[in-house]
Amino acid sequence: MRDLPTHTVTDVALEAVGIGRSFDGKAVLEGVDLTLAAGDVVALLGPSGCGKTTFLRIVAGLLPPSAGRIAIGGRIVAEGAEAAAPPEARGLGMVFQDYALWPHLSVIDNVAFPLRMRGMPRAARRARAQAALEQVALGHLAARWPGTLSGGQQQRVALARAVVAEPPLVLFDEPLSNLDRELRESLAVEIGALLRRLGLSAIYVTHDQAEAFTIADRVAVMLDGRLAQIDAPEALFARPATVEVARFLNIGAVLAGRVEGARFRLPGGDIALPAGALPAAAASGPAHLLVPRTAVRPADPGGAELRARVIRCQFQGDRYLLHLALGAGDDSAHLVCPADRPARPGEAIGLALNRDRLCLWPAAA
Ligand SMILES: Nc1ncnc2c1ncn2[C@@H]1O[C@H](COP(=O)(O)OP(=O)(O)O)[C@@H](O)[C@H]1O
Ligand SMILES: [Mg+2]
Repeated sequence: MRDLPTHTVTDVALEAVGIGRSFDGKAVLEGVDLTLAAGDVVALLGPSGCGKTTFLRIVAGLLPPSAGRIAIGGRIVAEGAEAAAPPEARGLGMVFQDYALWPHLSVIDNVAFPLRMRGMPRAARRARAQAALEQVALGHLAARWPGTLSGGQQQRVALARAVVAEPPLVLFDEPLSNLDRELRESLAVEIGALLRRLGLSAIYVTHDQAEAFTIADRVAVMLDGRLAQIDAPEALFARPATVEVARFLNIGAVLAGRVEGARFRLPGGDIALPAGALPAAAASGPAHLLVPRTAVRPADPGGAELRARVIRCQFQGDRYLLHLALGAGDDSAHLVCPADRPARPGEAIGLALNRDRLCLWPAAA
């Protein structure tokens, strides 16, 4: 008897391999690999202009890649620059920043539209659309026109329309950017919960770290057209792959200095490195050291390993953030450190360091 395959091709929602894209000879995306298993929700997080929308448009079929292959549900829909399947043949759900609802269709007809495209009979599609509207708590607004709804409500309608046909993949491109902060937070939680309830796979593009962490199990950090790291939010913070990832996520202070033996020397002080915890990178020479905010706390100056001077004290609602200089010189390294109590600019304080949380990368000389 033949062995049964352990999984079918449809277990893979998306396989993007070696995706590249240039505009006018300038590379915007290079070698992007991203795989989503069925039910995966991945956030694509990166600064404005790094290539997120370009990647999403390639997955959606709105733009051909210059290089690489896209398979959706095991079926190849784009290979290099040639003959790609058009968006409607990919059957994906999409939610954009600007809602993109049809103003001449009622709310329920907007939501039912993807089902109409698939030839579902009217009664069946209205029932499905109504159920999708209930999922986003808008069942009572089915007969309204989109223009009479608030921004948040319109985005929920767009969300219901994107999931109504239970597509193999839902694409989100900064869907909450036009909404105010409170609404953004609650809708982000809701979107994450809805995707999981329906077991849908999704790529959620955002430049907002909090939103990415709220929605996704895994976060793909895109910098300058490349994926720098794909990891769970906690892992990104505990083990950023590169100094650029650490900087972009604003995990703490990135200090430039030199490794000498088991110490990291920098203008204004030096820091003992944890023995054995910093493998290959710990060879002597120029390096960058990440001191995460959460790895530093104020301590009694007497016994403290590091001494610093307060430059600025910032009230953050539930605590203070101290901006500190390690030495007296203009070139001395700066750190940030959360504190329960305020401190005065100029005040000298001691610092305790959780060395296991330091990250070190060799730097070009
Ligand atoms: N159609 C286009 N023609 C030329 N350049 C483009 C085009 N689309 C995007 N770009 C450029 O590609 C880069 C990435 O853009 P985009 O994917 O929109 O970034 P993001 O969504 O991360 O902000 C930007 O420098 C942008 O100007
Ligand atoms: Mg964009």
